[in-house]
Amino acid sequence: MGLGWDVSGLTGRTIRVLDTRTKGLDRTPRERRVTTRIGVLTAGGDAAGLNAAIRAVVRTAIGVHGFEVIGFRRGWRGVMDGDVIELTSTSVQGILHRGGTILGSSGADPYREQGVERVRRTFADLGVDALITIGGEGTMGAAAQISSEGVPVVGIPKTIDNDLSGTDACIGFATAVQVATDAIDRLHTTAESHDRLMLVEVMGRSAGWIALFSGIAGGADTILLPERPFDLDEVASVLRRRHLTGHSCSIVVVAEGAMPAEGTMPAPDYPTDPRGDPRLGGIAYEIAPRIEALTGWETRVTVLGHVQRGGSPVAADRIVATRFGEAATELVAEGGFGQMVALQGDRIGQVPLAEAAKVRPVPQELVAVAELFFEERRRP
Ligand code: F6P
Repeated sequence: MGLGWDVSGLTGRTIRVLDTRTKGLDRTPRERRVTTRIGVLTAGGDAAGLNAAIRAVVRTAIGVHGFEVIGFRRGWRGVMDGDVIELTSTSVQGILHRGGTILGSSGADPYREQGVERVRRTFADLGVDALITIGGEGTMGAAAQISSEGVPVVGIPKTIDNDLSGTDACIGFATAVQVATDAIDRLHTTAESHDRLMLVEVMGRSAGWIALFSGIAGGADTILLPERPFDLDEVASVLRRRHLTGHSCSIVVVAEGAMPAEGTMPAPDYPTDPRGDPRLGGIAYEIAPRIEALTGWETRVTVLGHVQRGGSPVAADRIVATRFGEAATELVAEGGFGQMVALQGDRIGQVPLAEAAKVRPVPQELVAVAELFFEERRRP
């Protein structure tokens, strides 16, 4: 380990060491208490369930291992600035059901700033022995790099986009799907009243998990995914056939990262965020007038945006976040660094951070299930 102390198999026991630092003229060695101290941070876009994970980390670290826990405020920003709060069993009381993150979050990235040396300095200054990073693709990418440079890190998967590799669930996804499904249900009834075509835009930058799951759960008539460039002529013909078989309204779910097939319509021109990444949102507004022109049906747009990230986590997110928090802390205690905890089937496993940071697209077999309902298919 590059930090100058042995962190393989942290026990958390309070041990006594002889402190030979001098105090004035008194050079008598003293006993000093040394306790393992772990840091935790939440980085990137927030998601419902982050607080449940923080609570589980703190309760496991303190209750099971006798560690101390500090929280870095606003993600990697807190590591860069040494901005921390102490986390105790009392400070995480009553947060299980709360949305957002008590630590705050940001898109700060140590590698766009002062790099691993700054991380090492903060660790040394604050006596941090290991770090738990709760985040998505960008966070796991930075954690992988820092870990390869010898800093002891364990990851917990969080992104409503649900697109980290090696895990079947990320914190926040289940809640986002529920929010989107509830919205689709509501849009269905008003669409029926007015014979309208409704476009519902959901989040999903590189993968269409929310679009696909909420589309299946809400009975969407077509779903546009980032994984499959769309052709509006094809979309319109599916919708026309549907309306010819007696349906008076339709719901189209659009992932914000969906892109038109080359040569079909201009690709949207997004502004960039402070990290230089495109700030997505609004593709449905580009699509709606074109669909209306192609089908002749009045077409309206609802962009769900950050509503999908806010509010209380559904039970599934509370449970998976709690399991991840406990497992990540156990991994720290065992010295299993460089890994992200993961849901693999029903079990909690782990995956190397660098592997986890790769985008996980939606599986074709689930797209096929959604497509079964895109238009009326009659037996010949
Ligand atoms: O990564 C999750 C996500 O919700 C994306 O789907 C979306 O594009 C992005 O965050 C928005 O982030 P921000 O709130 O920083 O603009």
